[in-house]
Amino acid sequence: MVTTAVTLLVVILIFWFDKQLHQLLAARMGGLASRADTIVAILKLVCLALLAYLLVRAFNSVVFGLVRLRRGFEAPTLVRNIFSIVAFTALFFLIFTSIFPEANLGALFTTSAIFGVILGLALQDTLGNFFSGISLQADRPFQVGDVITVGAQRHAGVVEEITWRAVKIRTFSNHIVLISNSTAAKEAIEVCPRNNLNARLVFFNTLFTDSPAKTIHVVREAVRDADNVSQKITPVVRIRNIGDSSMEYEVKYWPEDYAKHHDTDALVRQRIWYAFRRANLTFAFPTRTLLVERNLRHGAVEGDGSAIVERLAAVDIFAPLSEEETVMLAQAATSHVFAAGENVIRAGDPGSSMFVVHNGRVSVQLSENGRPRTVATLSDGAFFGEMALFTGEPRTANVVALEETEVLEIGHAAMKRVFDTNPDLVESLSHIIAERRQGLVASADLSGSNKDESAGLLSSIKRFFGIS
Ligand code: CMP
Repeated sequence: MVTTAVTLLVVILIFWFDKQLHQLLAARMGGLASRADTIVAILKLVCLALLAYLLVRAFNSVVFGLVRLRRGFEAPTLVRNIFSIVAFTALFFLIFTSIFPEANLGALFTTSAIFGVILGLALQDTLGNFFSGISLQADRPFQVGDVITVGAQRHAGVVEEITWRAVKIRTFSNHIVLISNSTAAKEAIEVCPRNNLNARLVFFNTLFTDSPAKTIHVVREAVRDADNVSQKITPVVRIRNIGDSSMEYEVKYWPEDYAKHHDTDALVRQRIWYAFRRANLTFAFPTRTLLVERNLRHGAVEGDGSAIVERLAAVDIFAPLSEEETVMLAQAATSHVFAAGENVIRAGDPGSSMFVVHNGRVSVQLSENGRPRTVATLSDGAFFGEMALFTGEPRTANVVALEETEVLEIGHAAMKRVFDTNPDLVESLSHIIAERRQGLVASADLSGSNKDESAGLLSSIKRFFGIS
């Protein structure tokens, strides 16, 4: 404001004391009036040009200030600069032609080929940046506030400004990096727009013995409500590789403010660490496994197996067994773990074993017109697979794990030993099988009484197991 006022004052003074100034200069130069004329004219040109520059700047602030107030939109620096350059050039032409009416400025520019070549060579880079800047503004591949990663050097940061010369980004170490517009126009740029949910991946691993279903659940719950993790999309946790020494996972989440993703990644890792500690999960580290042969059957229950004995003792059909018989059955049992959705049994397959649900839930399903229909849901302590085992017929239904489920498998030989000492068991089993058959097929061809069915089953089970 002060500069403009001072410049205006100087211009007024020069024009006011035009004659006196002229005379003074002519007297100093020994009466060379034409030289004094030129000096005064150049002085006027310089002062008026300065005034024009200050006025253009003030006008620029007013116009773009109004645009911001009315539209709520900040005009790009490049547009503001172009506006100033064009306005100033036009004013300069006017001032120049009014002070030097005899000089043809247009012809000077257009006819001087040498001037053009020199200017072109000197301004090669500047013009390149300028036109790349214009194309960036027109194309708008990114805007102020977006996070971008540029070129092979992978300069990453938040865009602060796009000027006529360069794109200014603030890196995540709070440094400023200037990328010339022509480089930005040539290089590959990864853009994470400010108003977009951009995903992040954080990696972690566990021991092979940690359950994937449990790990996925625990990590998802730990991460979903962390600061800056979007509530709009639930984080996704998945196994990315079964590595040499660990199960390798990734958690994919969507930060609300991508510019803060480094902090949020760190918070996510912290959450995972605490969640692991609470859930008894363990991070893996490079390991070498030494296998010590212990002649243990695959899947056989390690330790004293008291939990298995307890489980089998609580199964209703095994209630009549003595403690030794239950222990014998537990030792013969094999444990298997199934993930949610996995088939434990497939309808139509041959089967020579039955199962007891140790932990989890399974669903007994029939396939109707290609779609599964659930007949029963069985949980801890329930048994299934006895029909094929006791009758020698194919499996009658699909049995699918509804969640991570551990089952105990008991084979034909172990059951035969139990039947040999407890022939009464066959009868109670035949009732259960008959009941389940009724549940499976409610059609007329199996409508014979439950009693008849049980009697038929009883004799076929006895025959199958060679029980007299
Ligand atoms: P199996 O035929 O060997 O294999 C499928 C198993 O599903 C079957 O033995 C039964 O143990 C079980 N099953 C079939 N129908 C029912 C039912 N109605 N209720 C509970 N379990 C069933």
